Amino acid sequence: PDRPLLFSPLRLRDLVLPNRVVISPMCQHAAEDGRATDWHLVHLGKFALGGAGLILTEGTAVSPHGRIGLKDLGLWSDAQVAPLARVVDFVHGQGGLIGVQLAHAGRKAGSHALWEGGHAFSQAELDAHGMRRLGPSPVAAGPGWTVPDALDEAGIAAVIEDFAAATRRAVAAGFDVVELHFGHGYLATSFLSPLANRRRDAFGGPRENRMRLPLAIAARVRAEWPAARPLFCRISAVDGAADSWDLDDSVALARALTSAGVDVVDVSSGGLSEETRRITVPRGLGFQVGYAGRIRQEAGVVTQAVGMIVDGPQAEDILRSGAADLVAVGRAALADPYWPRRAAEDLGLPPNYAGWPVRHG
Ligand code: FNR
Repeated sequence: PDRPLLFSPLRLRDLVLPNRVVISPMCQHAAEDGRATDWHLVHLGKFALGGAGLILTEGTAVSPHGRIGLKDLGLWSDAQVAPLARVVDFVHGQGGLIGVQLAHAGRKAGSHALWEGGHAFSQAELDAHGMRRLGPSPVAAGPGWTVPDALDEAGIAAVIEDFAAATRRAVAAGFDVVELHFGHGYLATSFLSPLANRRRDAFGGPRENRMRLPLAIAARVRAEWPAARPLFCRISAVDGAADSWDLDDSVALARALTSAGVDVVDVSSGGLSEETRRITVPRGLGFQVGYAGRIRQEAGVVTQAVGMIVDGPQAEDILRSGAADLVAVGRAALADPYWPRRAAEDLGLPPNYAGWPVRHG
């Protein structure tokens, strides 16, 4: 039989991923002033031992106002480079590849960790931490969320520069990939969605205008990021509500992102607001794979599928179906950091002890 697609390499610019398994970005709420800690070394390092083709860090804030929670990773200051470089060096030492997910939480900035309830900071909590919620328009993300400050032109320019500066720091830290977090209701999603973006200037109104800020960020980051290294972008393919961002919009966005120099579109969904959270598509195995498939087919872009991809045979079917070029695994990899090795075994590959960490193999 043919070699499983899941364990065939994928070349993106000058980077060759040894297999198609990507560890999905997952917030840990374990950083100190945005600096990676021992937790990140162990958490991300274990996936390198597990044989993933690429590991993505959690959403890493490009500015203090862009944090989901106070303990997010950040790359808004030079002091945050060395602690992340330590993680990158460890992963590289194990023959792994690692990317950083750059994020700005926008109007969903400032919330408690999920295990502390996940609720939004009050205005008093935002003030106490010197944080502001920023968005396209003064429309709150839902009950319990304060109304964000609408970004003016200078604010928009500053956000773009924050992404550029964070990208330069990602280069300094030695990352192999940058992924832009344009999904889940954070700053970029809020500009894309007509439910959150009520602007009447060049950044609001028709879809082309709503895409302007995300595309400007992508182009600016591409200019800072070495041409040899791939740029990923996670999007929410659909808001999940009536008259909101939909799959046709995402096909158009995927094309435009590719023109801006994005190499992989990572297809997630939802997260725009408390209201849409209740009405998004039912969750089941591979519940977002169809979105990746349509975007890949219609926009002709490289896609990464994510969402309840739980084992090797399922992942292999997704790749064979032509829906995606890469699969991202989140919770299943938390349960089993050696998920890629198990998947290889389940797909009938002989044990590749030479590819194991030398101390294990
Ligand atoms: C996430 N997810 C997520 N997504 C993202 O783009 N940036 C992030 O920082 C996070 N943080 C995060 C934390 C935790 C603990 C979980 C479980 C999830 C979403 C994640 O990347 C993935 O898209 C979903 O979990 C769906 O995939 P799985 O878990 O079904 O494989």
